[in-house]
Amino acid sequence: MPTDLTSQYTYAKGAVNRKRIKNLSNWLLNQCGVKEYTVSILLVDDKKICQLNNQYRQKNQPTNVLSFPFAEGADRSLLSLPVRELGDIVISVDTAFRESIEYRQNFHDRIAWLLIHGLLHLLGYDHEKSTEQAQKMSDKENELLNKLHFHRRTMMTKLAINVDHVATIRQARGINEPDPVAAAAICELAGASGIVVHLREDRRHMQDRDIYLLRQTVKTTLNLEMGANKEIIKIALDLKPDIVTLVPENRQELTTEGGLDVISQKKKIAKVIDKMEKRGIPVSIFSDPDPRQLKAVSEIGATFVELHTGRYCEAASEDALEHEFQLIATAAEEAHQLGLRVFAGHGLDYQNTAPIAALDMIEELSIGHAIISRAVFTGLDQAVKEMAAIINQASLSF
Ligand code: PXP
Repeated sequence: MPTDLTSQYTYAKGAVNRKRIKNLSNWLLNQCGVKEYTVSILLVDDKKICQLNNQYRQKNQPTNVLSFPFAEGADRSLLSLPVRELGDIVISVDTAFRESIEYRQNFHDRIAWLLIHGLLHLLGYDHEKSTEQAQKMSDKENELLNKLHFHRRTMMTKLAINVDHVATIRQARGINEPDPVAAAAICELAGASGIVVHLREDRRHMQDRDIYLLRQTVKTTLNLEMGANKEIIKIALDLKPDIVTLVPENRQELTTEGGLDVISQKKKIAKVIDKMEKRGIPVSIFSDPDPRQLKAVSEIGATFVELHTGRYCEAASEDALEHEFQLIATAAEEAHQLGLRVFAGHGLDYQNTAPIAALDMIEELSIGHAIISRAVFTGLDQAVKEMAAIINQASLSF
């Protein structure tokens, strides 16, 4: 094999798509006219790359990528060996991940950029030698990136707004304001691409009247979130929303707590999907970013999956945040590869939404609490526009 990939990176191993990196590396060797050569790629953490950076470049700090041409610094006689080895490329997954957030770049796109950069060094390009050399290397990088359609993005990430929280305020008084139907209209006028409502069995916020009125008034798409219970299924079939999102529902919970466990109730959920599909309603499943659940979601014939971003939003440390983000990024790619269309949501706010909105495979974000909370101070129109601007900017930066 022309590419030998070794990972010494143990943390969140599953998040690095090794097969994709290997394929990309083989493609690059081909593009650079050295397909008969081999290259070794080593994925490490910041600690390891810092140690190598210190040992070989006397720089005691982590870096993103290091290249070691074959036999450089070793006995020159090694060069006469009949091997066709370009050398080693060492990439710090930690730094790649940090940079992907900093540059609002998809994680694998960042790895791809580092791989191209490292490979060009092995082929003799060196941006540190002179301005001309730097230009030459940058031109070659851009040529390869363009071939990869690196910045291709087919559409902007959409914003669907959950207006349950408006109904929660109304229900606290038991009167008729604020009205979620009016809120939905304001959201749409301010740029929302969809309205989401959760009709709970206990009717703690949205009422039947709300969803039937919304069915008549929503001009974008109406997504009905619901548990898979008989009464609500009957209402959904009658209402015919544009999408149904199946979520787990627990009477005691403050809000939906986790993704739907499809694995343990495949038959039951498949039946609900079948009923909805027959009525022309596509189904989305709210799922944890767990590859086993995603496989089950695709097997039962759902059209969409909404990735649960709750744990990412609640991460209490930088490490946990990185870990949860990686899970979502990987899950989005996997779900896409399984043929699912991908949404995401839960707990997203004005601080944490941009990196998720920048993920290529995610078409739509479902956001409620943060927008309605901000609306109390700024007005709903302004709150929606501010969130839409964050999402649009993140989508466009790729
Ligand atoms: N997606 C699903 C499936 C949900 O249950 C909720 C909460 O109602 C959301 C998205 C929106 O979450 P938040 O209100 O935290 O933005």
